Amino acid sequence: MRTLNEIPALREALDDFRRQGQRIALVATMGNLHQGHIALVETARRQADIVVATIFVNPMQFGPNEDLDAYPRTLADDQAKLTAAGCDLLFTPTTETVYPRGLASQTRIRVPEVSEGLCGGSRPGHFDGVATVVSMLFNLVQPDVACFGQKDYQQLAVIRRMVQDLHFPIEIIGVPTVRASDGLALSSRNGYLDDEQRATAPRLHQMLEALRDAMEDGEPPERALSMGREALAQAGFTPDYLELRATDLSPVTATTRDAVLLAAARLGPTRLIDNISLTLPR
Ligand code: PAF
Repeated sequence: MRTLNEIPALREALDDFRRQGQRIALVATMGNLHQGHIALVETARRQADIVVATIFVNPMQFGPNEDLDAYPRTLADDQAKLTAAGCDLLFTPTTETVYPRGLASQTRIRVPEVSEGLCGGSRPGHFDGVATVVSMLFNLVQPDVACFGQKDYQQLAVIRRMVQDLHFPIEIIGVPTVRASDGLALSSRNGYLDDEQRATAPRLHQMLEALRDAMEDGEPPERALSMGREALAQAGFTPDYLELRATDLSPVTATTRDAVLLAAARLGPTRLIDNISLTLPR
């Protein structure tokens, strides 16, 4: 696997692949890779001849009081994992390469509606940062296909909408969430949890499973959601949101059948997110 950090070198390498008629897949990450990222690379590997991964801790998607400085940077370890997973090219630009004029002067992409509420409500500007950097990576890499995790359900919805609205000729593939054996969704932020918090963390997924089962059995959503918020608080979480939406994140109506339950909650300073799909009864 080659690692490049300059845009001209990246473009040159990609031009060579394209001249050979190779199909290119992109896996965009912020590094500190775990099995969830590796599942993205493995999916990409099955979809294309060339897999390009990127590692860039994107300052534009972090709020002023968030963990940009603390975010784990583990490049050598990540390179070994990507090589073992069959990645061909890794792009690791600096912040100056991505935002040469600085963040304040940077052109931004905003995806309305689907970016609002849920994580967009608690993290103002977060999805503008995600959409901006992902659109930039799409322009730089010009992949045929790009893989993103379903754990970040709203992020995936924002990217899908952006691709439609801006007519990017890129197929977006959502890859199922990879979980620890106790059900906790893998996340780079799980590393912030102490032992006690790590033991509590799977309760988030367990609560979502219990609510899914209850709602599929006919429990009225509002009642189930309020029970879920209470259960989270009792387990020691500070709930941020727990919401039921249609799969495109529009509000649930009387005719909605395919839905998704989405939750974000803090354990100490660590914010965890998760989601689960369900079918509402008629
Ligand atoms: O999901 C992530 O790791 C990031 O939000 C992404 C898509 C790489 C954009 O910085």
